[in-house]
Amino acid sequence: MFPVTASLCSTLLFVGVVVFVSADQKSITAESGQNVTLTCRAPNNKIIVVEWSRADLETEYVLLYRDDQFVPDDQHPSFKNRVDLQDRQMKDGDVSLILKNVTINDVGSYECRVKTGNNRRKRANLSGDPISIIYLSVVDPPGQTGGSAGVIVGVIIGLIVAAVFLVAAGFLIYRHIKNRKLI
Ligand SMILES: *[C@@H]1O[C@H](CO)[C@@H](O)[C@H](O)[C@H]1NC(C)=O
Ligand SMILES: *[C@@H]1O[C@H](CO)[C@@H](O)[C@H](O)[C@H]1NC(C)=O
Ligand SMILES: *[C@@H]1O[C@H](CO)[C@@H](O)[C@H](O)[C@H]1NC(C)=O
Repeated sequence: MFPVTASLCSTLLFVGVVVFVSADQKSITAESGQNVTLTCRAPNNKIIVVEWSRADLETEYVLLYRDDQFVPDDQHPSFKNRVDLQDRQMKDGDVSLILKNVTINDVGSYECRVKTGNNRRKRANLSGDPISIIYLSVVDPPGQTGGSAGVIVGVIIGLIVAAVFLVAAGFLIYRHIKNRKLI
């Protein structure tokens, strides 16, 4: 019986560790250190402006592309040299963003706005709704110490299961001894 108990315990422990947070289609989760792609597809016209921003950064951009070049002036410093477009040709309106080496500081809601058209001299007006909003969350890679909630939950479940089995075993032993005494 004890090997069964032990394997049941470790199974529950394992299930406890692999707790997933469910995510909707516009949320992605990455491990810190990974490169992520935030997808965004614009109408397939001449693209004049691509603006990637994060909701909590008020005036600075994640990435700004205007009139055939990247505009570094108003880019938030934490994104310098870490962002790129997946396809610089923006074929078929693909303006997906690559964000490299994500950290916990990159958590947030990323918004993609695009201006298309043929009138190159007109300034962009990008105050409208974004094409795409992606919530990025970043977790520690597995195996890193430092308090992963999943591990704690797993340990607690394991301890509870172990306690229940100890109480049950104690009761069985107690009853066994008591029965012997009666005989
Ligand atoms: C992220 O991208 C960089 C450069 O594009 C590459 O050198 C690196 O290996 C990538 N990292 C991961 C974890 O894929
Ligand atoms: C990724 O970011 C971490 C922390 O910001 C830094 O220590 C590390 O050197 C970076 N790795 C690469 C490949 O840029
Ligand atoms: C930009 O667009 C918004 C709403 O789409 C509008 O209210 C505003 O007047 C526009 N601004 C300019 C400068 O065109």
